[in-house]
Amino acid sequence: MYVIAPSILSANFAKLGEEIVDVVASGADWIHFDVMDNHYVPNLTIGPLICEAIRPLTQAPIDVHLMVKPVDRIVPDFAKAGANIITFHPEGSEHVDRTLSLIRESGCQAGLVFNPATPLDYMDYVMDKLDVVLLMSVNPGFGGQKFIPATLTKLKAARAKIDAYQRESGRTIRLEIDGGVKIDNIAEIARAGADAFVAGSAVYGAGKDSDAHRYDTVIGALRAELAKV
Ligand code: DX5
Ligand code: ZN
Repeated sequence: MYVIAPSILSANFAKLGEEIVDVVASGADWIHFDVMDNHYVPNLTIGPLICEAIRPLTQAPIDVHLMVKPVDRIVPDFAKAGANIITFHPEGSEHVDRTLSLIRESGCQAGLVFNPATPLDYMDYVMDKLDVVLLMSVNPGFGGQKFIPATLTKLKAARAKIDAYQRESGRTIRLEIDGGVKIDNIAEIARAGADAFVAGSAVYGAGKDSDAHRYDTVIGALRAELAKV
């Protein structure tokens, strides 16, 4: 029921294919794919070409997190490149409802991403178009930042909204958390309501010095913590 989504932002890009195969073999559920444009966020990362290149390497869903502005133009390219889930920040779109529809019409699952200071209200009138709600527990742009504790309160509020919607509609919406997730806080984050966990530096940082199946230990430890919840 819980999803662990390693962020390849912290992978070794010189051997990205191997890093993806290894992390999935070590128990990752989704591949979290951080797209930054040096405009919406102060960093520049990877685009549809890389998504297309890694697509044949794994059956695991590719969870594309768009930190770009504007959003719409790039959505069809990611859909064609094999993305399964596409999430975006409401601040990056002029018309949030339209962008959600565009993602779903492209054949992908759609999600909204909330920065630490972005109110949850954006989700209220588009619940029927959401497959994922992603709360940022750091300000977007970089891996390896510290979890912002106020996100725990926000997670509880998001959980309540999603549960109410699920009861009335029968549809499931994932509640994903992104930023500063570690072995020592994942259980607390799950208790606050998250059910999908992005972990970049916690996973890829852990494998730096060892060899085969080097992500088994850290993903196993994250799951062991989740089993306590
Ligand atoms: C930050 C990205 C995150 C990042 C998380 O803007 O959206 O996905 O890779 O990295 P960690 O887990 O190291 O905080
Ligand atoms: Zn992300």
